[in-house]
Amino acid sequence: MKKLFIKTYGCQMNVYDSARMADLLAPLGYAPADAPDAADMVILNTCHIREKASDKVYSELGKLKVLKEEKAEAGGKMLIAVAGCVAQAEGAEIIKRQGAVDIVVGPQSYHRLPELIARINRDKGHALDTDFPVEEKFDTLPEEIGTNGPTAFLTVQEGCDKFCTFCVVPYTRGAEYSRPVAQIEREARKLAEKGVREITLLGQNVNAFNGEGPDGEAWSLARLVRKLAAIEGLDRIRYTTSHPRDMSDDLIEAHRDIEALMPYLHLPVQSGSDRILDGMNRQHTRDDYLRLVERIRAARPDIALSSDFIVGFPGETDKDFADTMRLVREVGYASHFSFKYSPRPGTPASTQKQIAEDVKAARLEELQTLLFAQQRAFNEACEGMTMNVLFEKPGRQAAQAIGRSPFLQPVHADDAAGLIGKIVPVTIEKVFPNSLSARLLHPSRVAEAVS
Ligand code: 5AD
Ligand code: SF4
Repeated sequence: MKKLFIKTYGCQMNVYDSARMADLLAPLGYAPADAPDAADMVILNTCHIREKASDKVYSELGKLKVLKEEKAEAGGKMLIAVAGCVAQAEGAEIIKRQGAVDIVVGPQSYHRLPELIARINRDKGHALDTDFPVEEKFDTLPEEIGTNGPTAFLTVQEGCDKFCTFCVVPYTRGAEYSRPVAQIEREARKLAEKGVREITLLGQNVNAFNGEGPDGEAWSLARLVRKLAAIEGLDRIRYTTSHPRDMSDDLIEAHRDIEALMPYLHLPVQSGSDRILDGMNRQHTRDDYLRLVERIRAARPDIALSSDFIVGFPGETDKDFADTMRLVREVGYASHFSFKYSPRPGTPASTQKQIAEDVKAARLEELQTLLFAQQRAFNEACEGMTMNVLFEKPGRQAAQAIGRSPFLQPVHADDAAGLIGKIVPVTIEKVFPNSLSARLLHPSRVAEAVS
């Protein structure tokens, strides 16, 4: 067996892609390794969303070059591939900057990895593939799919046509594409057969999903969720990431009607200022977003909301930032991701006059203080509550297991080691900054209480 080490950066779509690359290379004799040291092939699956993410790639490649040379001295061979969004954005430039790289492959063409590896082994030199054959990719990825515990990601949609002025995704992942429903359903059934209880449907713009249904019509995400919820064993469904513009009525109703659809929604707003939202080309106002949140909460009152925020977008004044703070107070979030604006080459906002770094840092700190306080308040409100947890893996203490609540909070419980893969009612006893601690509801009657 040859050893394959994949390092994944960035979003959950990259996590999915890395797993599929491993599935793809398994028939070629590559088995997963935990470290790059003795690997025969190393893949960096990269992220280009912010400058910091991209920068990490070259320092990692420097380290890999040393390992590759050591392996060559010992008479061995290590192939180095750069995949993901940096590969797409920088292409041949990567090989120019770091000659130890053998393969550069974009996120829509990684299904061609076996071919690219064969080419390198045959002809030496380097191989580059940054095409966008997304449909071909999903048609040719192996049906066999590896799993890692009772939860899994499933990419249903890729790419983005929104062109927010700060974002590289429309350039690195290409145009919106939705996989056909039958193909997704097949993959979901395979996962369920392997013991997966919870799937997260992924897409850069997942609620814009409009894949072809078995009836030849374009299906909405809500219709897809309904179909997947009927699969035996699949008890929990989530989806991410959504755009406020594509939050359709039937999807909101799905949150009211479909038990398997978990009460958690990541709905990025980015800013609470209409002026900035316009500059970002988000195609909605602050008021549109607030009214949308009202409708979602009317359908599913206990839903936990989460969002992405960017501070220090070009032209953001103190007043604009205050509008963001006000929006956060009005909505009340259970969790969040927040970033300083990072100019990305080739995006419209990158050429505008930039906000000073210290202003960005101060705003981020103020925003995060509020958001973390809201997160704590949300978690504290769960104390004493009874909820179902899907246990996923062993905890740090003996006999402990860790899982997720319906609201995506990490939950750990003692005497639960035998319950991995089960959905179990628990009582929340204690709240920590990033997790909850729970007691099994019926310790003596666990067999009856779990499903
Ligand atoms: N600078 C800072 N944050 C960004 N994001 C996307 N592009 C940038 C950028 N140029 C954030 C957005 C998006 C999340 C995935 O990353 O908030 O929703
Ligand atoms: Fe980027 Fe905007 Fe598309 Fe999201 S909706 S991927 S932020 S361009």
